[in-house]
Formats: sequence, structure tokens, C-alpha cells
Amino acid sequence: MRKKIIAANWKMNMTAAEAASFMEDLELELKNFDGAEVVIVPPFTVLPRLSEIISEIPGVTLGAQNMWHETSGAFTGEISAGMLREFFTRYVVLGHSERRTIFGETDELVNKKVKAALAASLRPILCVGETLEERDAGRVHEVLSRQLKGSLAGLDTDQMLDTVIAYEPVWAIGTGRTATPEQAQEAHAFIRKTIGEIFDPATAAKVRIQYGGSVKPDNAKELLHQPDIDGALVGGASLDPRGFAKIVKAAARS
Ligand code: PGA
Repeated sequence: MRKKIIAANWKMNMTAAEAASFMEDLELELKNFDGAEVVIVPPFTVLPRLSEIISEIPGVTLGAQNMWHETSGAFTGEISAGMLREFFTRYVVLGHSERRTIFGETDELVNKKVKAALAASLRPILCVGETLEERDAGRVHEVLSRQLKGSLAGLDTDQMLDTVIAYEPVWAIGTGRTATPEQAQEAHAFIRKTIGEIFDPATAAKVRIQYGGSVKPDNAKELLHQPDIDGALVGGASLDPRGFAKIVKAAARS
């Protein structure tokens, strides 16, 4: 049984004070709820404050939006897995399409980060997904296969099981244009099949695959109802505690 995992990717939003007030509201909304694992993924600057708050809330863990793969040294502006662990961070989002397009991250670099995260006992949330041009050109499977093979290269089975995949079609991120449940399910099934080929089908059956891209309270349930969709990576709609709580609860009912 794959427990659903709903993550709030706050991107470059929220001060520490705003985050604390968000958590107060979210805690009230999710009182006595344990139907899904919740991961809050704030900016780095908010991690210290949230690590204190979140340690008190059952079922909620902390994630980071990025990291560098070296352990320390002359990498101005970067942060290591060990530094994230200092604040009880459990997950780290890697290879987000904004990192790939704005900051030029390649599958090779993402693979280094995935390995460094796992070596530091951080669980990667590895993002994959095609652009609109790639979808229109019928290249969805080719792109997903390349991203998965490149980013997961060299992992063993246990490491794969500690990794979450997020399927995020680039054309659906922040655009209000969600993949239909059928489109998302088709891509998720392909991702699971590909993981089965890289590792083995039994491993693939246990890996959690989130959908991301304009997930909202009113479309979450239908998406989360699909057989291969095991959660959501939520951007814009995760900034409102009530709306985000609705998405989390939709996971339980599906
Ligand atoms: P969105 O972002 O929900 O605002 O589309 C999702 C993401 O980028 O993870």
C-alpha cells in the first residue's frame, strides 16, 4: 500500500513569520487527520523556524527545494545535504523544471544531487516532465525515459524506494492548465513501467509518484483517484492553508 504524499512547494514565497502563521492554520485544519503524509517545502531561510514547529505536528515533515551535491567547500550561494539535515529536513525536491530551465540543471547534475541526498539520508523528490512542444511532438515517453534513466543512474533498489518521483508536465506548472486525470495517469503508468525496467517491477510497484502542475482543491480528488497517482506536488495552491488542507484531505478520500 503506497501512502499518499502531498507536498507544498512554496517556491520563493513566505517569510518565517508567514510560515509560522500558515502552520497554525494548517494544524487546525488537519487535526486528527492521518490519511496522507504531508511535506512542507519552504525556502531555506524558513527551515530553522519550521523545523521547531513541525517536529510537534504528527504526519508533517519538512523538505527543501534544492541542494548542491558536494558536502562543503567553495560553492558560493549553495547549500549541502548535511546543512539541510541540521534542520531535520527529510525530503529534497530535485530537478524541478524551474531549476532545469532557469538554472540550466541537466540530468547528469540532478543524478549527482540525487545520490548526494540519499547518502545523507535525505529522500529525493525527483521531478520529471515534458514541455508543451515535446508533448505536441509526441515525445512524452522519450523525454520521461531519458530523465528517469539519467537522474536515477547508479541507484540501488533501496535507494529507489527512498525516492519519490514527481511527474510535472512543464506546460501545467503555474499555468492553471492541469493535465487531465487520463493524461496524468497515462504518464504515471509509463513512469512506473520505466522504473520497473531500470530496477524491477516489484520495486516499481512500491515507488510513490506524485502529480504536479496546477493542482487545486477542486481538481485534486479526481487526479488523486487515479491508480498510479500517489500524491501531489502543489505550488500556487499550497500558499493558502485552507485550500492546501482540502487537497491533503482529497488524498485520503480517494
Ligand atoms: P503549481 O506548481 O501548482 O503552481 O502549478 C507546481 C510545482 O511547480 O511544483
